[in-house]
Amino acid sequence: MALRIEGYVIVSADGMLADASNVMPDQLRFEGDQAFFSAALDRVNLILHGRNSYEDQPNSPKRRRIFLTRKVATIAPDPANPKSTLWNPDGASFDAACKYASVDSGTVAVIGGPAVFGMFMDRYDVFWLSVAARVRLPDGEPCFPGVPARSPQQILAAHGLHAGEPQMLEPAEDVSVTPWRRDARD
Ligand SMILES: NC(=O)c1ccc[n+]([C@@H]2O[C@H](COP(=O)([O-])OP(=O)(O)OC[C@H]3O[C@@H](n4cnc5c(N)ncnc54)[C@H](OP(=O)(O)O)[C@@H]3O)[C@@H](O)[C@H]2O)c1
Repeated sequence: MALRIEGYVIVSADGMLADASNVMPDQLRFEGDQAFFSAALDRVNLILHGRNSYEDQPNSPKRRRIFLTRKVATIAPDPANPKSTLWNPDGASFDAACKYASVDSGTVAVIGGPAVFGMFMDRYDVFWLSVAARVRLPDGEPCFPGVPARSPQQILAAHGLHAGEPQMLEPAEDVSVTPWRRDARD
């Protein structure tokens, strides 16, 4: 299956995607980043996330998605949303879940949480890492398995991804996004 896989996250300067109660705090919500993220999700063919990482944006109900849950054994329709598929990776492959969701080409956006990001670390074509450089979340939820022993950037690099040009999303707050690409020509 020829799917392009992209990752998206916004993290604090210390590599956290949520606070100590595993909730994404308002400190990590920035208009510039939300606009970037929403435009990206409007372009992709499929969104993939864990049960707690629904992006909750105005266009969310229009988007095709698969979410991971152990509440099903393999793959099942989401009774709450006709555009959504429930998937348990212990019982069925990612390809099978995509096929069930009627997606066999195009781009998949992986949007968290940490365990789900970790599952695809060797498969991203590009990972869009947004960093809020002035925010720190001590005791927060690390964005990837292996953080904070290593930084998110060190983990992406260890999985064969290379940093491209950062793009400033909110200059007054020092929020930028950097594409980490597997192929420098990508
Ligand atoms: N800053 C950001 O950009 C960003 C991005 C993403 C998330 N977040 C935040 O991070 C927090 C969510 O973190 P989370 O750790 O709860 O992540 P999550 O991956 O969204 O949700 C965890 C749930 O997803 C399911 N799941 C995850 N991995 C699975 C697997 N391998 N097999 C089957 N099911 C699996 C399980 O659901 P069941 O319990 O149903 O089995 C699990 O309880 C939220 O506060 C969210 O807002 C922030």
